[in-house]
Amino acid sequence: MKVLIIGAKGMLGQELVKVFHDHEVLAWDREDCDITKKDEVQNKIQQAAPDLVINSAAYNDVDGAERNKDLADRINGYAPGYIAEAADKAGARLVHYSTDYVFRGDRKQGYKEDAMPDPISVYGLSKYLGELETVKFTKKYYLIRLSRLFGKPGIGEDAKKSFVDKMLELAKTRDKLDVINEEVSCPTYAPDLAKRTREIVEGDYDFGIYHGANKGACTWYEFCQNIFKIKEISVKLNPVPGSKFPRPAKRPAYSILLNTKLPEARTWQEALWQYLN
Ligand SMILES: NC(=O)c1ccc[n+]([C@@H]2O[C@H](COP(=O)([O-])OP(=O)(O)OC[C@H]3O[C@@H](n4cnc5c(N)ncnc54)[C@H](OP(=O)(O)O)[C@@H]3O)[C@@H](O)[C@H]2O)c1
Repeated sequence: MKVLIIGAKGMLGQELVKVFHDHEVLAWDREDCDITKKDEVQNKIQQAAPDLVINSAAYNDVDGAERNKDLADRINGYAPGYIAEAADKAGARLVHYSTDYVFRGDRKQGYKEDAMPDPISVYGLSKYLGELETVKFTKKYYLIRLSRLFGKPGIGEDAKKSFVDKMLELAKTRDKLDVINEEVSCPTYAPDLAKRTREIVEGDYDFGIYHGANKGACTWYEFCQNIFKIKEISVKLNPVPGSKFPRPAKRPAYSILLNTKLPEARTWQEALWQYLN
């Protein structure tokens, strides 16, 4: 199978490249194809003639999106439509990724795959637009939502560190840390999601929406407690409300991604342990 991975230098993209290594992999990032340029996307995908397109490219700066709406919409919103249309024309199946931030966050019990999105931030709106554009242009899609991705940072120039690595970095210079004890969602380990993506495309799964996070949910404070426990870091953690750190973008209070269509994933704590060891 010829697999085209877009966003191949990102946190998830580099894991996808590893997981599909025994297939013919085309690993593209920004310098190979700017996904916001419709003609470039159409021409290059047509030439590449893949069997499967996996789009893990995105604009992931949740707060930055509040002042860069146009850029967020172009990368997260319209570009997935260009890719979906090109994949469809090439006869390829498509994997696209989205986020828990498409949900409002007022449902404590969590959101199933068919729950209605209702985003409260520019980033969430742009990712929801990407979902809509994807399904508008192809029927052969697997749309996989995830949240709180962690793993090795991407290798691109603007690669961001995950929360896990940011906390480990902060712990080197602090003896106490305030961490938000709100915003409940499910951490997702990038290598686990890459494997799960392969299971979906190679398994007998229908096209449609999937929730691909690890099992379990936590606040940022609980996430950090686990990180420091595993690494035996003695920095004192202080749970604080979100209002202690005013940020431009609103966050969902509860955005647990309920998985009702895939086999149970391992817990985020197990995945975190593996990442940190
Ligand atoms: N990270 C999270 O916590 C999180 C949470 C929920 C959902 N997701 C979703 O999961 C997926 C994977 O995220 P990730 O964290 O692995 O992303 P990432 O590390 O930020 O990687 C995204 C990649 O896309 C590339 N890219 C950006 N704009 C592009 C463009 N115009 N043309 C071509 N490539 C472009 C980036 O290149 P540059 O480095 O050069 O910009 C980067 O290599 C995305 O759909 C994301 O929205 C992520």
